[in-house]
Amino acid sequence: MIVGLTYNLKKRNSEVEDWDAEFDSPQTVMSIRSAIEQAGHETVLFEAIPERIHDLVDAGCEIVFNFAEGLQGRGREAQIPAILSFLGIPFTGSDEVALGIALDKTVTKQLVAAGGIATPRFQLVNKTTRKLKRDLRFPLIIKPNAEGSSKGIRDNSVVHCEEQAISLLRNITSVYPGNFIIEEFVEGREVTVGLLGNGESLRVLPILETLFPKEDNFYSFRVKKNSDVLLNYSCPAELDRSTHQKIERSARMIFGILGLKDVARMDFRIANNGTPFFLEANPIPGLAPGFSDLPRICEAAGIAYEELIVTILNTAMIRHELLVPSTVGVR
Ligand SMILES: Nc1ncnc2c1ncn2[C@@H]1O[C@H](COP(=O)(O)OP(=O)(O)O)[C@@H](O)[C@H]1O
Ligand SMILES: [Mg+2]
Repeated sequence: MIVGLTYNLKKRNSEVEDWDAEFDSPQTVMSIRSAIEQAGHETVLFEAIPERIHDLVDAGCEIVFNFAEGLQGRGREAQIPAILSFLGIPFTGSDEVALGIALDKTVTKQLVAAGGIATPRFQLVNKTTRKLKRDLRFPLIIKPNAEGSSKGIRDNSVVHCEEQAISLLRNITSVYPGNFIIEEFVEGREVTVGLLGNGESLRVLPILETLFPKEDNFYSFRVKKNSDVLLNYSCPAELDRSTHQKIERSARMIFGILGLKDVARMDFRIANNGTPFFLEANPIPGLAPGFSDLPRICEAAGIAYEELIVTILNTAMIRHELLVPSTVGVR
């Protein structure tokens, strides 16, 4: 098959150090390409920039492996999928509606909470906000409502009083566009859950726990950037049966509630009383080999990087009826 790859590349040409944190390095693009080619397909690369859109339309791809994060706007992750849907070109992963929803942390949390799944209490705020909701309990964390990869999350993003919150908000909204979400900070353990497949064949992969040092107990951008020296991981996480089941069941439900497809990763914090709280869903999880959580989870599960990539592709092909399930080793 002719498989297109859509992605955004890191460029390092902005004053804001984390502006391209969600984008991919050329090495990640090449690793994905090589995995797809090893499976016998032809690949065509499309950096997801306006100049390449005509080529994408004309290339005759039979399917696109989409991991473009999009350049701008609240709908940025949905833009390439919307174009592909419009053209009738099948693609891997979630559709434009699910991607639009999942990028918006507030909308996602409202849907998830309506499904009966615990998520920290929160308020959507912006630069004009001067008062916090009375039912919010400190400490609170302030983060962009529609970003990823810990963008806009700093060492001082956890606040302990209203004054501190409003002052941080004033400062941070001058750097990042868009709304912010201010949410109850869940002390306790952090886990992330990878999912592969659809419907009856949806698999929840072993849960990964991120082990933070005491003085850096959340993923600020600095901690993420220095994860190789600061963090340890445990996969499968050591969880009691009931907590494990709760998280697994919630992750499956959220996959359904948000209408996700083929692959996703979801973040949870487990409060010290044992309640898992859903933080956010990533329908386009990072795929940097040896760095991103999903490849790390797969490694622990005995799924090689190439197998992960080809499983995502094959899962999408099966969903689009381009492949019959029994002919491939989708586990
Ligand atoms: N309510 C919260 N309680 C505790 N830690 C949080 C909370 N929200 C975010 N964090 C920390 O910030 C990190 C990034 O937040 P997250 O919502 O996952 O956004 P991103 O899209 O940037 O990954 C989390 O991995 C976690 O370490
Ligand atoms: Mg996250």
